[in-house]
Amino acid sequence: MKVHVITISDRAAAGVYEDRSGPEIESVLREAIPASRITRTIVPDETDAIRDAILAAAGRAHAEAGPHSGTAFWGTASGPGSKPAVAEDAADFILTTGGTGISPRDISPEVTAALIERRLPGISEALRAASLRETPSAMLSRGEAGMIGQSIIVNFPGSVRACRLCTTTLIPVMQHALAMREGKGH
Ligand code: MTE
Repeated sequence: MKVHVITISDRAAAGVYEDRSGPEIESVLREAIPASRITRTIVPDETDAIRDAILAAAGRAHAEAGPHSGTAFWGTASGPGSKPAVAEDAADFILTTGGTGISPRDISPEVTAALIERRLPGISEALRAASLRETPSAMLSRGEAGMIGQSIIVNFPGSVRACRLCTTTLIPVMQHALAMREGKGH
């Protein structure tokens, strides 16, 4: 399983403080799924930087993505038995942390939503429900989840605690999601 973690934070990107959220996601994942291949990047809360990082992780050229791009997400092949087009280098999961709240520079959900082709609202609902047991502030996280081509993208809040809980909450469906994505049965 290939996972790309994107930390979205002006201060972490500028080196004002060390990113601890991305590494937290990585270490929780590594422990639960030792075979996972995990890469990470850090970007500021800027639309272009976030979009470019997401598209690169999804194995997409800039112009290809998005629900209104004119390129069908299932690729050019269609009809019974045809396989979805999967970019060779696309991550199975793209997990972002940060920028989901309501401060002026929190834009991660908007940038993500503009790229998502199929929404996975159950994931965001589950993360908020689990997080609510930890803090009422979970209501302020606007994180999205969905598919860009064959990559599944999920927005986590920025705190280390949130990353630990959200990764732990997501892990039980990760393998199954990949099987379903490939059209395999239960
Ligand atoms: N979810 C969990 N599980 N744990 C947390 O500590 N922090 C909350 C919330 N979700 C938190 C959480 C807070 S304080 C905010 S403001 C929102 O996520 C948005 O955080 P972000 O802007 O860093 O993404």
